[in-house]
Amino acid sequence: MDNQNDSLWEWSVFWHSNQLHSCMPVNEESDSLAPTWRKFFSNLPAGANILDLGTGNGSLAVQAVAVSHKKHPPFSIHGVDLADIAPAKYVANAEKHLSDVIFHPRTAMEKLPFEANTFDAIGSQFAIEYSTINKSLREACRVLKPGGRLRFLLHANDGILKERCRQQYEQAQTILASELFPITTKLLIALNEAEILNTPQAVKTAESLILSVKQVFDELEQLFSKAEERSLIDNLFTAVRNLLGLRKSYEIQVLTKMNEDIKLLLLAQSKRLQSMQKAALDDTKVTEMAEQLRQLKINNVSLELATTNIGNRSMGYWLSGEKPQTVAEER
Ligand SMILES: C[S@@+](CC[C@H](N)C(=O)[O-])C[C@H]1O[C@@H](n2cnc3c(N)ncnc32)[C@H](O)[C@@H]1O
Repeated sequence: MDNQNDSLWEWSVFWHSNQLHSCMPVNEESDSLAPTWRKFFSNLPAGANILDLGTGNGSLAVQAVAVSHKKHPPFSIHGVDLADIAPAKYVANAEKHLSDVIFHPRTAMEKLPFEANTFDAIGSQFAIEYSTINKSLREACRVLKPGGRLRFLLHANDGILKERCRQQYEQAQTILASELFPITTKLLIALNEAEILNTPQAVKTAESLILSVKQVFDELEQLFSKAEERSLIDNLFTAVRNLLGLRKSYEIQVLTKMNEDIKLLLLAQSKRLQSMQKAALDDTKVTEMAEQLRQLKINNVSLELATTNIGNRSMGYWLSGEKPQTVAEER
């Protein structure tokens, strides 16, 4: 497991798995974004240099790759992220969808390792708002070529994604504060002893712990009985239950370590969900970002609401603009 003291540990843990998206487990939502991004990339000239800020496992970069295949020469696509990303290692079929992307792990968007005027387009999907925004905007404008375009999708404070994060965060906190992990470890050890020693006392202890674990599960199920968002709970409960079924295949030390790892993953998940809620912006904040872009001499700055396919609910904001071709074009 990654080092918890690393900056953005929670994101490194998340991206060290086969996940392309961080914010869109529901297909309909990602489908509603893809056409907008593809249109943005389609309007770029063949051979354009593209930068994805806070790329994660390349959810946005993959859209640039899809358009790049129709361009001759193709785009040159870069993705930076402060977390320890390695999509080629973790994402299924990365060689098909992401092999054309140059990923820059452990790279802060506030201090980009690129020359001024390098990119024809810079995109960011739910990422720039996690950084020190004024520094990142300044950096983006520095590395953007004259005539280059910016497009950022930002979390909204009153959006559907923040609400989902809030629910999942509270569920994670409830489970972490419960007896689930300590009592599962006790049960694993007791079952192991009962099998080895086979004494009435060891069997009795194991049986009593089976009932206690069942009770913890029942209490948690009761607490979450009305939860609309169940993916975190269901995945976690399945993982812990599977662990008990793996007893015949692994040594007790391995099993208790697996239980600790599941807890650590939940802790990372909870930290990530908290940072997603903090990153969400309200109207005042996004208006300030638009104003900062204007001050950085970006033209045609526009701010629009991004909505989902589901009931037109808010998903965030689109913020975009263009760097003037010449000094004369600057307003
Ligand atoms: C919500 S995720 C979005 C990832 C990806 N764009 C997507 O749509 O799936 C936010 C990402 O921003 C990254 N991030 C946060 N602060 C950053 C910074 N200062 N510089 C670079 N990346 C950062 C995180 O590591 C994380 O991968």
